[in-house]
Amino acid sequence: MQLYLSLLLMVAIAATHGAPCLTKVSITIDKYNALKFNWSIAHVEKALGGSGTRTSESAQEITIQYDGIATGSYATLTFLNGLLYTKAQIGLC
Ligand SMILES: *[C@@H]1O[C@H](CO)[C@@H](O)[C@H](O)[C@H]1NC(C)=O
Repeated sequence: MQLYLSLLLMVAIAATHGAPCLTKVSITIDKYNALKFNWSIAHVEKALGGSGTRTSESAQEITIQYDGIATGSYATLTFLNGLLYTKAQIGLC
């Protein structure tokens, strides 16, 4: 019974919190607009309050996606040699 209850509790916690992704943050249009070209990844992460999802990574180019609050909204930031050189967003508010 004890085991069953703790198992149930663990399932409940997993269901409400999902997978552990403590550093995941949401980007807003204001924060997006405030991002300046040539900022370093560290600078951008500090400005946004955390790291996004690296969707592609090559020797020179790293693309990081930050999800917005609205469903399906996100920003894509591309860094060349570690510096922000393109940004795009869809549906941010
Ligand atoms: C970013 O850095 C490059 C290379 O130093 C420079 O040519 C460019 O003008 C810079 N862009 C901005 C917006 O500061």
